[in-house]
Amino acid sequence: GAPVVADISALQEGQRMILEWRGQPIWIVKRSQAILAALPGLDGRLRDPESSNADQQPAYVLAANPQLRSLKPEISVLVGLCTHLGCAPEMVAEIRPEPYDAQWKGGYFCPCHKSRFDMAGRVFQDVPAPTNLVVPPHHYADDNTIVIG
Ligand code: FES
Repeated sequence: GAPVVADISALQEGQRMILEWRGQPIWIVKRSQAILAALPGLDGRLRDPESSNADQQPAYVLAANPQLRSLKPEISVLVGLCTHLGCAPEMVAEIRPEPYDAQWKGGYFCPCHKSRFDMAGRVFQDVPAPTNLVVPPHHYADDNTIVIG
């Protein structure tokens, strides 16, 4: 399929844009500084905090910001399909002791079988999803333009 171009100039902190690329939902999410600061502290609760599975993201994305899994720190690009059986996870991009976890630092929750992922799409331990959410191939054409594919 052809690449998909996204203008992120209007994307606000805590918001998610949803596009379609190759029949899959693609999320572009702008994360707050508080969320970014919380991500490294989650490593001990995650199944694969260093995203060691090379199928889950392009190497150039992991190299740019390993724990954030993004080219720019604040902007996360993910395939919006749960890695368990492909349901659509919900997003709550806020740090608060609810709704999915007493120590919730923002992230994604799959309502089908209760898998949880952090705001970098990294999967928690003790949930059905086996792997982190997938980061699709993408690059920046300019500061506010992302090309998916
Ligand atoms: Fe997401 Fe099963 S499809 S937890």
